[in-house]
Formats: sequence, structure tokens, C-alpha cells
Amino acid sequence: MKDLKHEKTLAAKEAVKYLSNGQVVGLGSGSSAYIAIGEVGELVKNGLDIKGVPTSEKTRELAESLNIPLLKIEDVDSIDITIDGADEFTEDLQLIKGGGSFLLKEKVVASLSKQEIIITDSTKKVEFLGKFTVPIEVIPYAQNYVLAQIQKLNGTGKIRLAEGKPLITEQGNVLIDGDFGLIQDPALLAGQLTRIVGVVEHGLFIGIATTVIMGVDDDVVIFNK
Ligand code: 5RP
Repeated sequence: MKDLKHEKTLAAKEAVKYLSNGQVVGLGSGSSAYIAIGEVGELVKNGLDIKGVPTSEKTRELAESLNIPLLKIEDVDSIDITIDGADEFTEDLQLIKGGGSFLLKEKVVASLSKQEIIITDSTKKVEFLGKFTVPIEVIPYAQNYVLAQIQKLNGTGKIRLAEGKPLITEQGNVLIDGDFGLIQDPALLAGQLTRIVGVVEHGLFIGIATTVIMGVDDDVVIFNK
């Protein structure tokens, strides 16, 4: 049986090799990203001079607990490198993200980043995206309208719940997990979702990742753009 934490740790250790002094570093969210943040914390303790930009409150708290100096997103024009996780990726570096509900900040940080490094275990690589549902962040007022529009795209949507109630994101929105089956043309679907009124952002990351580092057993495999 695969040790997924070990694979994520190998990928995280490889990813932090891309860091150097003076960089602004986007800090992702999710279990893989948290392992990487632990590695960044160790490097900072040993003298690495970087400043982090967190993609969630949980990441901010973790980074602060490790004494990683932080910048606010509103104080940066660009980010040198971001290390984050993904729910699924294809060999041409298309991703689904947002399983942890932080896709909006993750996409803003990724969009500001010159390099977006994704770290995963070996279960995340797929031929076609879509086995994992596509998280869609929606303003609560528009949720029924968006659910109806998802059906028009031959998909089905479910409001994500937390403890029996709709999960509210850090931005005060709800998440719809959209099932579109296996997605033949993720860029097309990404555009269609973006155009639905009330959709703030979605978890299809197309043309954003520059590198995926996947841990496999005791090794890593690196996919570049
Ligand atoms: C959070 C994310 C995560 O990066 C994604 O869900 C992967 O998580 P993990 O590293 O725990 O498998 O997009 O919004």
C-alpha cells in the first residue's frame, strides 16, 4: 500500500529546492502544501530569507507559528514562486484545485506567480480531469441560478456542506461541487463557468501551473510546462 504522506513529503522537499534568498513565495493550502510550509519553516530557521504570501487563514497561522515572515497580498505586485497542492492534474499541467475550499485565494496567488509549483502524491495524476468534482465559488444569492446553469452544461452540482450547513468560504461565498463527468475540454468548460453570473471563480486551473512534482514511492517525477 502506498504511503501518500511520504510521497507528498518527497515532493515538498524537492519543491523547496526551487527557493532562494530574496524571493516572495506563495504558500498554498492543503495537506501537501502544509508539509511544504513545514520545510520552508526549517529553511527560514536556517537562514533562508524569503517572504511568504498565504492562500488561507490556516496557512497564515501555520506560517506564523513557524516564524516565516509574511506579506499581505495587497502589498505585492508579483510573486516569484508558489508551492501548492492539487486534487487532480494532467500531464499537460491542467489542474483541479479547491478540495480544501481555498481555490479563490489560491488562484489569485497563482495568477500573480511567475512559477506555480504543484506538489502531489501519485494518486493525483489523471488522463482526463473530472473524477474529482470541480469546486465552484458562488455568491450565495446566485446559488440556485448557478446550479441551473450547471445543468445546462450537462453537469450536476451540489452545495458543499460543513457540519450539515453550507460551507461558507473565507470570502463569504458558498461552494458548488460540479460533476461534469470526465472533462474532454477543460479550457472550454473553464470559460463557460467563468461566464455564469454569480460565479466568483472555479477550481479549473488551466495554463497556470509551471511545474508539477509528484512523489511516487521513494522518488519524484517532475512535469514541466
Ligand atoms: C485546497 C487545495 C488543495 O491544494 C488540494 O485540495 C489538495 O489537497 P491535499 O494536498 O490535501 O491533497 O486546492 O483548496
